[in-house]
Amino acid sequence: MRHRGRRRVAATVVGLLTLVTTCTACTAGQVAGDRPLVGVAMPTTASERWIADGENVRGQLEALAYDVDLQYAEDDVPTQIAQLEQMIADGADALVVGSIDGVALKDVLAQAAAADIPVIAYDRLIRESPDVDYYASFDNARVGVQQATTLLQGLGVLDAAGEPTGSTGPFTIELFAGSADDNNATVFYQGAMQVLAPYLDAGTLVVGSGQTGFDQIATERWDPKNATARMAELLPRYTAGTRLDGVLSPYDGISIAILDAVRAAGLPLPVVTGQDAELASAQSVAAGEQYATIFKDTRQLAEVTVQMVHALLDGGAPEVNDTTSYDNGVTVVPAYLLAPQVVTEQNYEAVLVDGGTYTAQELS
Ligand code: GAL
Repeated sequence: MRHRGRRRVAATVVGLLTLVTTCTACTAGQVAGDRPLVGVAMPTTASERWIADGENVRGQLEALAYDVDLQYAEDDVPTQIAQLEQMIADGADALVVGSIDGVALKDVLAQAAAADIPVIAYDRLIRESPDVDYYASFDNARVGVQQATTLLQGLGVLDAAGEPTGSTGPFTIELFAGSADDNNATVFYQGAMQVLAPYLDAGTLVVGSGQTGFDQIATERWDPKNATARMAELLPRYTAGTRLDGVLSPYDGISIAILDAVRAAGLPLPVVTGQDAELASAQSVAAGEQYATIFKDTRQLAEVTVQMVHALLDGGAPEVNDTTSYDNGVTVVPAYLLAPQVVTEQNYEAVLVDGGTYTAQELS
């Protein structure tokens, strides 16, 4: 494994010492300006989770005396590429990248590699590039399994322990997936379909629209507006007599759009899954509307990432726990995968309130 940031950091440390010993009038700010620089490129501020991700990574890096350049690209790929180019030009010592389009960064990451800058893929795998050193994420396949399991639990096909209840439905459902350019979206979908397939085959679950292929159910850029538009196409088949019993949703922004569309159509709310425990969805779960979400603790993801950056720049070896699952098409990227947690009306207080993500007041 390469430790490409080391030379630059050593040079910075020598520079720092010189500065400290020769400049008696220096302020902390001036010295801090010479600290190793980490570029953090995040996809968007349109979703709360990415705002929290950026703040957590920046805060934890700054606590370890790194300078941080945190940028958001508002889901625009050329903007993200330009931000990364600027970070490289500014002499970043490491890059942390929450990508928008997993296959669009090959050229800019080649520039990073040429400048000896290590790259960590944050939450989303960067594909088709040899220049991705590490991957920090959650067990994304498990997220998909959890989403499908909560859908089946909400419908009463599985019990709280995940065991079949014997219910054979049939239940009418619809399926949503995430953005096709985000590797995670496929992994969530595959994890979920692995659980749902036997129930679809047996006829316990029926997809009302018949749309089950990833391309048919993907939601570009994870944008709730695209989910609203698709719901407008799906809902006419559902009336008071033909109930929509459940919807597999991969992400809370989409879940809220689905619930709003059903509510606006005056139909009973289906069992809806989710992910990220965003505030609106956590409130909805607490109110017994959205059936479940998946909580991924971004504080822990920041810790894993910062540990990787620190080890890389300090000459150590980042800790990983998965060296086989994430083949990006060119190389298998060593990963640290955290455990996602299911949140329902039954446990949201323990997970989200006692865990310090939200206050009880925010969720009441
Ligand atoms: C995924 C991420 C999810 C969700 C989604 C939309 O890549 O893993 O947690 O945030 O993007 O932002």
